[in-house]
Amino acid sequence: MFEIKLKDNLGRTGILKTKHGIVRTPALMPVIHPGKQSIDVKAAGAEIVITNAYIIYKNDELREKASQEGVHSLINFDGPVMTDSGSFQLSEYGDVEINNQEVIEFQELIGSDIGTSLDIPTPPHVTRSRAEKELEITLERAKESLKYKKNIMLNSVVQGSTFPDLRSQCADELSKMEFELHPIGAVVPLMETYQYKDLVDVVMASVTHLPDSRPRHLMGAGHPMIFALAVAMGCDLFDSAAYILYAEDDRFLTVNGTYKLENLVEMPCSCPICIEYTPDDLRKMDKNERKVLIAQHNLNVSFAEIRRIKQAINDGSLMELVEIRCRAHPRLLDAYRQLGKYVEVMEKYDPSSKKSAFFYSGPESLNRVEIYRHLEKLSKLPKKSRLLLLPAHRKPYHKYLSQEPGEFFSEGSSKKSGMDDLQIMVVDVPFGLIPLELDEVYPLAQNDSPRIMDDNAHHFIQEIIEGTYDEYDEVIISSYLDQKFNLGLYSNYTLPESLNMKIDDQQKIIVVADYQFGQGAGDALFAGNLEIVYSKKTGKIRHIYYGKELIATMRASDGIFVLSKEGARRLHSRMEYPKNRVVVNEDSEPYAREGKSIFAKFIIECDSNIRANDEVLIVNENDDLLAFGKSLLNSTEIMDFKVGQAIKTRKGGL
Ligand code: GUN
Ligand code: ZN
Repeated sequence: MFEIKLKDNLGRTGILKTKHGIVRTPALMPVIHPGKQSIDVKAAGAEIVITNAYIIYKNDELREKASQEGVHSLINFDGPVMTDSGSFQLSEYGDVEINNQEVIEFQELIGSDIGTSLDIPTPPHVTRSRAEKELEITLERAKESLKYKKNIMLNSVVQGSTFPDLRSQCADELSKMEFELHPIGAVVPLMETYQYKDLVDVVMASVTHLPDSRPRHLMGAGHPMIFALAVAMGCDLFDSAAYILYAEDDRFLTVNGTYKLENLVEMPCSCPICIEYTPDDLRKMDKNERKVLIAQHNLNVSFAEIRRIKQAINDGSLMELVEIRCRAHPRLLDAYRQLGKYVEVMEKYDPSSKKSAFFYSGPESLNRVEIYRHLEKLSKLPKKSRLLLLPAHRKPYHKYLSQEPGEFFSEGSSKKSGMDDLQIMVVDVPFGLIPLELDEVYPLAQNDSPRIMDDNAHHFIQEIIEGTYDEYDEVIISSYLDQKFNLGLYSNYTLPESLNMKIDDQQKIIVVADYQFGQGAGDALFAGNLEIVYSKKTGKIRHIYYGKELIATMRASDGIFVLSKEGARRLHSRMEYPKNRVVVNEDSEPYAREGKSIFAKFIIECDSNIRANDEVLIVNENDDLLAFGKSLLNSTEIMDFKVGQAIKTRKGGL
C-alpha cells in the first residue's frame, strides 16, 4: 500500500507499507549481493534493500539457507526486502535456468516483501518488431505471475525499449492488473551511455500511463546525479549497485559526477569517510579495505541526495534542485531541456501554490510549469478591449510604478481614452504579463530572476507582447519597453493626465478570485456591498466581509483566498457543478459535515481541474455543500488512490 504525503511537479514523498515495515519514498535500495555483503547499508540510511532471487536460487548453499531461514536472515537485513527475478541476467547472458512460475514461487518461499516476474529487458534502439514481440512475452508473464502469487507484493516492469508508445501501451496494460509497484526496466544501457534525453522520453511515456497510486522504481538507477531529475518525473524508488561497483573500481560518486581516486588531491565531500581519510591514505591501503570505505562514501552521498530531494519537495523547490543537478553534465542538461516538452502533463501534477519562490536559473526555466500555467490562466480571464503595458520595477509592481510615465506608443486603434475598458499589466521575466490586480498572487510575486536578461528570456517576452496585438483593440506600450524588446512601434500615444493607475481593490479581489477559482468566481464571491479589511501591519488586503459575515481571507504568503463558510456557500451556489468540487459518497457524508478530513477512497467524482493545494468544495451526490478544504492531491490522484487523505477539510457544518 502506498500513500502520497507531499508533492512537487510529478515528484512526491510518500509511504510504502510492507510486511517488514514502512518505507519513506523517494527511497534508495542498495543492492545486496547475497553471500558477499560487507557494508552496513542500514547504518548509511537504507530503509529497504534489493537482492537477486535468481542468484540465490542458482547457488545450492544460498538456496538452502534462504529456503530454511528466509531471505532477510540470509542477507542479514530485518527491514523490507525487494527481490529481482533474474531478468537482468537473462538480458546479459541470454538465458536463465528458471521459469516465471518458479521464480515467483521461490520469492514467495524465501519471504521476499516485494517480488518481480521474469520480464524481458528489451534494450534501447532495437527494431520495433523485436520490441513488440518481447513486450508481448513480458505482459504475458506479468499476467501469469498474478496467478502464482499468494502473500507477496509484486513488481511489474514496464518495457518497450525506446518506443514511447510501446512504453505507454505496456503501462496501460499493467495498470489494469493488480500489481503493487511498477519498475521502469531496461534503462541501464541508456544511463551507462549518458542517453539521458531518451531516458526522459522513456520515463515520461511510462509514468504518465501508470496509476498514480503505485510507486515507480527506476531500475538500475544508482548514480545520485540523476535522482532529482528522476523524482521530478515521478519516480519513487531507485536501486544502487553503483555504490559498490564504483568502489571496486576506486571511483567516488558525487551529485556532480564521478571522481577517480587516482585524480583526487582532496576528498570529495564531508561525510565521515571523507573527513577521516585523505586520498593518499586510501591509495596506500589494501584494496579490499579501501573498497569498503569508498562504498560507504558512495552510500553516504547517495542517501544525502535522497534527503535533500525530500526536503526540496517539502519546500516546493524540487525544480530548482533539478536545474542545479542538470548542470553537472551537458547530456543531463539535454534531458532537462527535453523534460520541458512535457510541461502540459507536468502542469496537472504540480501544486498550485508552494512555500518557496520560483527561481529563474537560466533559459530552461522558461519551460517550467508555473509559467505555462500562468499564461494559460491569463488567457482565460475576462478580457478588456485595451491593454496598457508598463515596465516592471520592484515587487509588488503596483507600488513601484514609474513616477514619470514618459513616452508611450500604441498598436491598434481605439476611440476610447482614460481608464475606459483598460487593463494594466506589467511586463517582467519570467511570467511575461502580470495584471496589476494579480501582482501579489503566487507565483507572480514569489519569484526572482537575474537582472541581466538572457536572449531566450528577451525573445520569450517579446513574443508574448507581440501576441497581445491580436487580442486587444489597442495595446499601449511604454517607449522603454518598446526599446528594450525591439518592438519597433511608432504610433505615439499620449497618456491622459487624468489616467489613474491605482488598482481598485474591489476590482482586484474579483480578478484574484477568477484567477484562482475560474472565471465567474469573482462575481460569485464578491457580489454585494463588501467591506475590505486591511492588515494593520502591512496594509495588504486581509479579510473580505459582507456585513458581519466573513467571505474569504487573502493569505499573506501567497495572495490566495481561503474561503469561509459564507465564501464556500457563495462559490457553490454560483459556480456550476462540478467546478471546484469533490463529491463524496453517502457513507462519508456525516464525517465531511463534522469537518473531518476526506480520504481518497470516499471520493466518487471531482472537477478534473483540481490541483494539489487548491481550495475545494466538498459536496454529496446531490451537490449539497457539506464542507470545504484544501486538496492534497490533483484530480487524477484523488480518483486513483484508495488509501490516504485527499482533502484537508477546513470547515464542515454547511
Ligand atoms: N534490472 C535492471 N534492469 C532491469 C529490468 O529491465 N528488469 C528487471 N527485472 N531487472 C532489471
Ligand atoms: Zn564522502
